[in-house]
Amino acid sequence: MNFLDTALEAARAAGYEIARRLPQERDVHFKGFRDIVTDADLAAQEALTTVIRARFPQHGILSEEGLAPSSDADTVWVLDPLDGTTNYARRLPNFSVSVAVARGDELIVGVIYDPLRDHVFCAERGAGATLNGKRIHVSPVDDLSQAVAGLDFAREHKIRSSLMATMVACSECIRTFRALGSAALGLCYVAAGWTDAYFHLSLAPWDVAAGGLIVMEAGGTITCTDGGPWSYKQPRCLATNGKLHSAFLRLMRT
Ligand code: IPD
Ligand code: CA
Ligand code: CA
Repeated sequence: MNFLDTALEAARAAGYEIARRLPQERDVHFKGFRDIVTDADLAAQEALTTVIRARFPQHGILSEEGLAPSSDADTVWVLDPLDGTTNYARRLPNFSVSVAVARGDELIVGVIYDPLRDHVFCAERGAGATLNGKRIHVSPVDDLSQAVAGLDFAREHKIRSSLMATMVACSECIRTFRALGSAALGLCYVAAGWTDAYFHLSLAPWDVAAGGLIVMEAGGTITCTDGGPWSYKQPRCLATNGKLHSAFLRLMRT
C-alpha cells in the first residue's frame, strides 16, 4: 500500500470517529493558554496512528496530542487529528483531519478530510491536487480589490495584535475576510479557488503541512509572511493563488 492510500484510509477512520462523537456529550480539558483538547481529538489520533503503524511501523509520527518522532526517523507522518477543536467543542460545523508525509523538509503527501461535508482534499508532490478525486486549481483573481482572504487567530496577545495590524492594512484594499477556525481547511479553500489567500502568524507543523502541499500542487504560492521560503516547520505563512502574492506580501509588511 502506498503513502497516499494509507493517508486516505487513516483520515477517513479519524473523520468517522470525530463525526460520530459530535452529537454526544464531550470531555473538554484545557492543555494550554486558550488551548483545549476533547475526547474526539484523542480518539481521532488513535484511529490515525492505528492505520499508519500497521502499514509503516518504521516511520516516525509527529502528532498534536503528544506524539513525537525519534530523531533518526527519515519519513515522518505529521498529523492534526482534529483541526478546529474550538469549533468542534462548540458544535460549529467546520473542522477537519490533516495528514501529511514528510522526508526532512520535503512534503510528499497531504490529505485533509472534512467529515461533515465528506470533502477529501489531497495532493502528492508533483501530481497535482484534488477534491474528491477531481483536480482543483487556485482562483484566477488578479485584482486585489476582489480578493477574499482567509485567516485565523493566534492564541497569544502580541501575535493577535500584529494580525490585527495586517488586517487593517488589508481591509482598505481587499473585498473581505473569512475566519473559519480550521487552518487546514483555510488552506484547502485557497487550493480550491474558493478564497484567494490565507495567512496565519502562529501555526504548528501539523496545522499547515498537508495544506501547504495542497496549495502548491493546486498551482498556488506559499511563503513565509516576510516573503522568505516556506517550510511546514515555520509558524508564519502566506498562501495565495500566486497572482496576488506580491500584493499580499506588501500588505503583510505594512
Ligand atoms: C487551530 C486551528 C485554528 C488556528 C489555531 C490552530 P486546533 O488548530 O487551526 O484555526 O487559528 O492557531 O491551533 O487547535 O483546532 O487543532
Ligand atoms: Ca490544528
Ligand atoms: Ca488539533
